[in-house]
Amino acid sequence: THREVVFSGIQPTGVPHLGNYLGALKQWVDIQNTASPDTTLLYCIVDLHAITQPQDPDDLRRRRKDTMAMLLAIGLKPERCVIFEQSRVPAHAELMWILNTLTPTNLLARQAQWKSKLAASEERSPLDPDGSSKLKLGLFSYPVLQAADILLYKTTVVPVGEDQVQHLELAGDLAGKFNRTFGNILRVPKIQLAPAKRVMSLNNPASKMSKSGPAKSQINLDQSEKEIRQIIKVALTDSITGISYDREARPGVSNLVEILGHMTNRSDFEAIAAECEGLSMKQFKDRVADSIEEGLKGIRSEYGRIKQEGDGYLEEISRQGAEMANEMANETLEWDKKASKL
Ligand code: ADP
Ligand code: NA
Repeated sequence: THREVVFSGIQPTGVPHLGNYLGALKQWVDIQNTASPDTTLLYCIVDLHAITQPQDPDDLRRRRKDTMAMLLAIGLKPERCVIFEQSRVPAHAELMWILNTLTPTNLLARQAQWKSKLAASEERSPLDPDGSSKLKLGLFSYPVLQAADILLYKTTVVPVGEDQVQHLELAGDLAGKFNRTFGNILRVPKIQLAPAKRVMSLNNPASKMSKSGPAKSQINLDQSEKEIRQIIKVALTDSITGISYDREARPGVSNLVEILGHMTNRSDFEAIAAECEGLSMKQFKDRVADSIEEGLKGIRSEYGRIKQEGDGYLEEISRQGAEMANEMANETLEWDKKASKL
């Protein structure tokens, strides 16, 4: 059959930020609202991925709940989507192990995200006091777990930001290797990039906006109007007169033009810049902040409302999501294990 299956994930490492929203989450909701009723939609809070970096356990638990609340606040409907926590579906780790046995380590060593973490770690202090590496096997094999997440549900479409493309290509390769080795069971998924491929940090537009970035580099989806305006006010731009769009020469201003565009569902960035040409930097930033506030205020109030409902409500959605996900995942895993003679 050609039923579509959509799968995507987000780490519970903090409140989602504007980059997560424009690069991924907004698309999740758009897909939900336009997909045909027989399309399966799975949205996963990937806590097993989060623990590839050191986490405080209580913090992680709280952030996982906050992430669930935010997924509901942006408009995902638990009646329509399977919204679940990865660690409640053991099949993810089990398929990962099978895929591990098919994954050449040099393909993992080539992953850009691994290479940048490796470089950053070697720059700081390369070894723990006991002489062991600070980087752990879990971080190295992160993309194999990601492949398992996706392949378990015979996913056809994965909506993500550009930073995930290399990992998804690896997932496709692993599906191919599995199928050639054990028979045609897994599907090679298609990548679907959001219009906002890469939202940049607000105080260092050379790097992407990220949950692990410094204060004022990002806008989180739960921040107040006052905070949003303050962060945009101090966003790094330049001293060139007038507003124009040029990603190389004016990365800070161009990032703000793009954000303004995405918040108003436009991608004609040159035209947007032309409309803002005569504004002062302050007026331009006000316009950007207005568009963000307009797009986020409903989400913020819904998030506040859901948090008031208490943990029981979120726990119930999470439990139901895991139940459905387990059922689907176990079916594929059973086939995979039979095929690999386990
Ligand atoms: P982070 O990198 O902030 O920890 P995740 O790894 O949880 O975020 O990614 C969740 C989703 O958000 C992924 O689809 C990823 O591609 C997307 N994403 C993350 N940061 C950005 C960004 N700055 N611009 C566009 N998309 C992003
Ligand atoms: Na990421």
